[in-house]
Amino acid sequence: MNKLFINTEVTRGHIRKTLQGHFSEHLGRCIYGGLFVGEDSDIPNVNGMRKDVVEALRAIRIPVLRWPGGCFADEYHWKDGIGPRESRKKMVNTHWGGVTEDNSFGTHEFMELCRQLGCDAYINGNVGSGTVQEMSEWVEYLTFDGVSPMADLRRANGQDEAWRVPYFGVGNENWGCGGNMTAEYYANEYRRYQTYVRQYRKDSKVYRIACGPSGDNYAWTEVLMREAGRYMDGLSLHHYTVLGTWQHKGSALGFSEQDYYETLSKTLVMDELIRLHSAIMDRYDPQKRVGLIVDEWGMWYDVEEGTNPGFLYQQNSMRDAMVAALNLNIFNKHCDRVHMANIAQLANVLQSPILTEGPDMVLTPTYYAFKLFSHHQENELLDSALAAPLFEKDGVKLPALQESSSLAPDGTVHVTLVNPSLDEAQAVDIVLQGKTVQSVSGEVLTGAMDDHNSFDKPHIVADKKFESFTIAEHSVKAVVPTCGLVHLAIR
Ligand code: AHR
Repeated sequence: MNKLFINTEVTRGHIRKTLQGHFSEHLGRCIYGGLFVGEDSDIPNVNGMRKDVVEALRAIRIPVLRWPGGCFADEYHWKDGIGPRESRKKMVNTHWGGVTEDNSFGTHEFMELCRQLGCDAYINGNVGSGTVQEMSEWVEYLTFDGVSPMADLRRANGQDEAWRVPYFGVGNENWGCGGNMTAEYYANEYRRYQTYVRQYRKDSKVYRIACGPSGDNYAWTEVLMREAGRYMDGLSLHHYTVLGTWQHKGSALGFSEQDYYETLSKTLVMDELIRLHSAIMDRYDPQKRVGLIVDEWGMWYDVEEGTNPGFLYQQNSMRDAMVAALNLNIFNKHCDRVHMANIAQLANVLQSPILTEGPDMVLTPTYYAFKLFSHHQENELLDSALAAPLFEKDGVKLPALQESSSLAPDGTVHVTLVNPSLDEAQAVDIVLQGKTVQSVSGEVLTGAMDDHNSFDKPHIVADKKFESFTIAEHSVKAVVPTCGLVHLAIR
């Protein structure tokens, strides 16, 4: 039997709630239709924000939301998105389908969405096609409470109080869509731009995030940490799991068993990426002051047939729930360096927890994976060691089980266990050092690899009460089903 040892007396770092963050870009139907429908819509809304979506996201305690992009961020001019909606400037969304962006969702709308969600705002500024002045004025507009041109403009637009903006990104993918810069050039630009991201609020510091590498571009991390490490609070990392090639990524549904196993094996590379980027960061920042911000991650498939290729709409199956769970466990394990992670994207784009079609909403398997992980938010990572063999399937090797364990302030131990196998349930003996087990409860998410929720059948996949366990004084024996994620709360 697999064995999991948890030492409840040794903690390994704080699991910030922001490891379960999300990302919303002006891309396809993420903002428009997915989150925002406008006050005049027949779809039930509060100040234009979909009621069903806001409720669903509050239920999983969405901690932080990144906006307005993505590639869109580096061609977004925030002043076009404030003031009376009818007079806002229109623009072409050149990255995503060449559609007209009418700027009806701008700064005020985003901050209102965060208010309704009860989450932190992470705003991404424009370096690629913007100016230092533009970025600096945005921060002033958002966060300055005194008398100033931007604070006065904000008041004139109906918002008296300055907002709290805990996270600010200085450019996005500046090695690519954000200006095709070299690491050396961007490092200098970052130093200049961040100088004017002022700290106006005494009660809430703006955490400045520099554009980091894509995947295994370790040279970028080296240059950024060397040249600009002391000027940043966080460095981003983007990594998407792609099966096949960028031209032929395969589809979100209707895949083979081999595709399933290869996908899970590929997504586990996140652990190596974090370890190797962290090793570079450790040389410049041994105290781990600077966070690694994995602000774009998830599955990227070919778009659903018949949909706009520029809109990146894809379905979501139990395979994606497994991908989400494996990555969320990895982030927990690296919580000393990873301060935030944002799955791409929140609604109707890439690996979304939410899909919408007109008035209808579907919660995807990925949504339920986040629900089970929400119990780890703001806990302490526990020292744990899992003795589980590797198994081989279709030429792919995977661990029989994967886990992370944390201690909540009330003393409850939370464990999330993933079984990637499609044909073998996994029994595990969980031994807890320093804890007498009083009671256990839990939930399970399991299904066939391509089970999914559609608008016709929205309730095929959902979490259920977990009952396959027995309790002893210092241990719990549990059976994790195939293609399964289990959350245990051990009191
Ligand atoms: O999430 C879609 C796109 O992927 C983002 O706009 C960009 O940052 C990344 O390349």
